Amino acid sequence: MAQQQHQQRPTVSVQVNPSINSIFQTFIWVILLIAGCILWLIAYTANNYNYHFQRKHVEDQETGSVSGDPYAPPMEHQGHKIILFWNNFGTLQPYEFGLGHAPFVKHRCTIHNCMTTEDRTLLPKADAVIFHVRGLIEDSKEQLPKRAHPEQLFVFFTLESPIHTYHNLTAFYDYFNLTFTYREDSDIYCPMGKVTRRPESRIIRNMNHTLSKLYSTKSKIAAWVISKCDKEGSMRWQYGTELAKHIQVDVYGKCGTFSCPKTHFGLKCYTMISRKYRFYLGFENSFCKDYTTEKLWRTLQYDLVPVVLGGANYSHFLPPKSYIDVRDFNSPKHLAHYLHYLANNPVHYLEYFQWKETLRLRTVTNLRRDGFCKLCEILHAPEKYTYKKEFDVHKWWDLDANCLHDEALARTLGLPPDTRGP
Ligand SMILES: *[C@@H]1O[C@H](CO)[C@@H](O)[C@H](O)[C@H]1NC(C)=O
Ligand SMILES: *[C@@H]1O[C@H](CO)[C@@H](O)[C@H](O)[C@H]1NC(C)=O
Ligand SMILES: *[C@@H]1O[C@H](CO)[C@@H](O)[C@H](O)[C@H]1NC(C)=O
Ligand SMILES: *[C@@H]1O[C@H](CO)[C@@H](O)[C@H](O)[C@H]1NC(C)=O
Repeated sequence: MAQQQHQQRPTVSVQVNPSINSIFQTFIWVILLIAGCILWLIAYTANNYNYHFQRKHVEDQETGSVSGDPYAPPMEHQGHKIILFWNNFGTLQPYEFGLGHAPFVKHRCTIHNCMTTEDRTLLPKADAVIFHVRGLIEDSKEQLPKRAHPEQLFVFFTLESPIHTYHNLTAFYDYFNLTFTYREDSDIYCPMGKVTRRPESRIIRNMNHTLSKLYSTKSKIAAWVISKCDKEGSMRWQYGTELAKHIQVDVYGKCGTFSCPKTHFGLKCYTMISRKYRFYLGFENSFCKDYTTEKLWRTLQYDLVPVVLGGANYSHFLPPKSYIDVRDFNSPKHLAHYLHYLANNPVHYLEYFQWKETLRLRTVTNLRRDGFCKLCEILHAPEKYTYKKEFDVHKWWDLDANCLHDEALARTLGLPPDTRGP
């Protein structure tokens, strides 16, 4: 019975309605065709969108137009100087710069015939090898490479102060040919920040109006974010504590009683602080030649006046009235007097923001990019540069940095003898 039914049905439908069947088939084909078109259109648009999105993203980062195509296929090594990153320091992009030839093009280096790599098998071919010296401690057992050929340049790179380089550098005597650090006397000088002139079109004209608004929200005096209290940088802790006896200092972080709301971590915390406070204590953990950190540079980016304590000659690279240097005062008490005075005199306090009308900041990431451009130039014009030979990196990095340690520092800062630590 069941078989009979099955055989009958199609026969009936074919016999009775042949035209309906062929219309139906045509209909299916048309539907498939339209679906195909739609799918192709979707795929095309998405691809295009993605391309534009990535492209735009790159341009935004660089705030300029891209010359050359960073998405071009990898170039041949030929003609490019090879820079080998021997180790990295835990950033997303190696050295916050990137790999290959593309970064040199993307960052608009004048000379860009260079490429970076992390591939140690390229050591024999590399023109320069960069060592992040602090990072070497973590794999100190590993054999450091020997120079593969006489022209190969070994580059000393670090972001840390000598106090935190954690390496007995005497072992590196006669090893490096170039230095790439924040020290001004480096072959490749890469400070943590830099003040540059604004182009005419970017000069801020209605600063006074902005400033008076800015002042109106600031009800507190000084904020200090610190999470290492006694162990390290004890002198800065003692200085801050002494200062707090004479003026309101709200201490944020592990060492204090204030904390940013959980939703306000990171930069949002800075925003909150700059809204409420007049001063930010940017005390460094080491007092060494030219050493500054984001404690200074980030504070300058916000509407805050940094009160600085460090080993750098701040007047050398910052405009007058953009910061307050602790070392210009005989003691914490004298500094407190001055901060009090400014806090109660908006006209004088706001003078510390006037520099922003005509000057602006460049950040370390951009400056490091300049550094890699410079390295590429150096590799292409060896006759113009003198490479170090038999370089005593320990003497240069550790001894010539003139780092101040506790006792000498306490004297410089005018801390009372009873607070001068053990
Ligand atoms: C560093 O190493 C050298 C020799 O390799 C040694 O004479 C010196 O005492 C060491 N310095 C420190 C601080 O360990
Ligand atoms: C802004 O204020 C400063 C000091 O308060 C004053 O010297 C300057 O002339 C003012 N500038 C303008 C454009 O009003
Ligand atoms: C600090 O820098 C200023 C400005 O460049 C310079 O005049 C001064 O001599 C420097 N001071 C020291 C101690 O190097
Ligand atoms: C780099 O330094 C080493 C060790 O002092 C030296 O032998 C070599 O000649 C230097 N390289 C160049 C290109 O000057």
